[in-house]
Amino acid sequence: MKYTAIVLAAGKGSRMNSSVPKQYMDLDGYPLIYHALQVFEHSCVDEIILVTGPDDTEYCRKNFLEQYHLKKVTKVVPGGAERYLSVYQGLLAAKDTDIVLIHDGARPFVTDAIIKRTIDAAKQYGSGVAAMPVKDTIKIVDEQQFSVETPSRDHVWMMQTPQTFPYGSIRSAYEQIISRNIQNITDDAMAMELAFQKPVKLVAGSYRNIKVTTPEDMEIASIFMKHCKNEA
Ligand code: CTP
Ligand code: MG
Repeated sequence: MKYTAIVLAAGKGSRMNSSVPKQYMDLDGYPLIYHALQVFEHSCVDEIILVTGPDDTEYCRKNFLEQYHLKKVTKVVPGGAERYLSVYQGLLAAKDTDIVLIHDGARPFVTDAIIKRTIDAAKQYGSGVAAMPVKDTIKIVDEQQFSVETPSRDHVWMMQTPQTFPYGSIRSAYEQIISRNIQNITDDAMAMELAFQKPVKLVAGSYRNIKVTTPEDMEIASIFMKHCKNEA
């Protein structure tokens, strides 16, 4: 069986408010995106497709992949204006493969164990998406920010990546999303749910598998990096 990871790095990083684009910001001496790529490089995944901003493909190919000896990255493709459009570009480039793992490049703390859990579930259940139970109480609110509902914490999980599926089904889900012009698809599980009206299987990610989104996340990521080193 062939496993392909699609690593997304085509976002604008607007919530980071930084001069250097978020995916290239320094974390422990390397560009942020390097960390996730090197985990996949050393995993059971056979190939990696990196999705970057349209102006960054050459830069990544020349400087980045060679410099860091990322041999499993077979393609660098330009993404789209929204995450789901970038995923679609990655899926079009994937072609002959069996299992696809879609990963936010902005999650540097993905591990081999998480990758394997999502693959095993994808084989067994047709989907395996990394997630964790929420720690805070969640409120559904109305437009004026008055509380409407408090879902039971036992049933509320926050979604992470990788989100892993058989290639045929995730490709077909995205084909449907694009052809039906459905927008605001914020994760791949949602694309599957909308296309096939079927639930996806959640597996444990980790509380360290954060998405680096705002400047505070960069501070947390630096601390996690130090801990990773101490544990190694
Ligand atoms: N992403 C992408 N293409 C887009 C938008 C997002 O490939 N058009 C990727 C990002 O690079 C990131 C992941 O999807 O790795 C999750 O997105 P997010 O954390 O929202 O990153 P950005 O969209 O870059 O940040 P922001 O929303 O703050 O602009
Ligand atoms: Mg975004």
